[in-house]
Amino acid sequence: MSSNTKAIPDGSWVLIVGAASFVGSNIVQAFLKLGYKVRATDYSLPQASWMADDFFASYVANGHFELVIVPDIGEENAFDSVIKGVSAVIYVASVVTTFNPNDTIPLNIKGTLNALRAATKEPSVSRFVVTSSYGAAFTPGPEPSVRLDANSWNDAAIARAWAPPPYTPERYNSVYMASKAEQEKALWKFVKEEKPHFTVNTVLPSWICGRLLNKTQNPSSAICVRMLFNGDATYLRSLGIYSYVNVRDVALIHVGAALDPEVANERIYAIARHTTWNDFLELMRKNYPEKHFIDDMPDLGRFSGTVDTSLGLKLVRKWGSQEGWISLEEGMEETLDSVK
Ligand SMILES: *[C@@H]1O[C@H](CO)[C@@H](O)[C@H](O)[C@H]1NC(C)=O
Ligand SMILES: *[C@@H]1O[C@H](CO)[C@@H](O)[C@H](O)[C@H]1NC(C)=O
Repeated sequence: MSSNTKAIPDGSWVLIVGAASFVGSNIVQAFLKLGYKVRATDYSLPQASWMADDFFASYVANGHFELVIVPDIGEENAFDSVIKGVSAVIYVASVVTTFNPNDTIPLNIKGTLNALRAATKEPSVSRFVVTSSYGAAFTPGPEPSVRLDANSWNDAAIARAWAPPPYTPERYNSVYMASKAEQEKALWKFVKEEKPHFTVNTVLPSWICGRLLNKTQNPSSAICVRMLFNGDATYLRSLGIYSYVNVRDVALIHVGAALDPEVANERIYAIARHTTWNDFLELMRKNYPEKHFIDDMPDLGRFSGTVDTSLGLKLVRKWGSQEGWISLEEGMEETLDSVK
């Protein structure tokens, strides 16, 4: 593909914020593989150094990878120097440190706005992509009346997140989903009011599993597959999942959201298929016949609403040269291989 078929120049710099995370690091790898240069940021050196020292060391050597620590995304000028000369910003960072929405949501909004404001001062930026979640659009569940589209917002999670204390652990998911929803709302408000010179897209993945690049990484949602494999399902019963997507497909959709000239102002659902823990258990019994697994969980509802995932699929095909989404079985095996 020649340059004019892409929204950013071949071989240019891409800034990835929150790069050491499960999703962030897979996005880094996807851009490097396509010949882009990556400036990766994360909040602490001990948690991010494996990228520069080990996994992406060859790209450090040839000048295609830089790691810069940005300790506080909430600091006004946090991104002013790291954004210099980049053609795209991929904002993956998401901070949920406590169950109090006030510790999390304003910070995630501020971090995003700080990066957006820095981008408005940097003429080289043509694309700005934010990692959201389908939880920003609705609380995953089996209700057949759910119709997800570009105008879907999880206002119920926002209300639950901001309800009066106590701030107990059950609030985690509501705070996470509310944070993604409010972050995205702030982003689109900024785009409407400020009319920046760059194009914005967001990616809304469902529940993600797949390969970690380094075993020292926070396994994030992928830990669930390991828990299920080990028969440790108490937490999973309370969580429930309704849809699956592989982390490599999530990364490719971010690539497409940055590179595809035809994709602008989109909220892109990244969902490979609808599923339940029992689908994983069935695959585990098939692939590991010698091992004993827990019984199927009763009463797990299936997603039965409507969501258009065609744009995500189109991007996976176009930018990954794949026939389609990576299967649940591959996602399960890649997770078990990489998550201890
Ligand atoms: C993972 O990170 C640790 C700590 O930096 C390092 O010792 C190890 O070599 C890394 N492994 C890979 C595959 O990068
Ligand atoms: C949120 O934090 C701010 C600043 O620390 C404080 O002024 C405000 O009262 C807090 N609000 C809630 C609902 O906790």
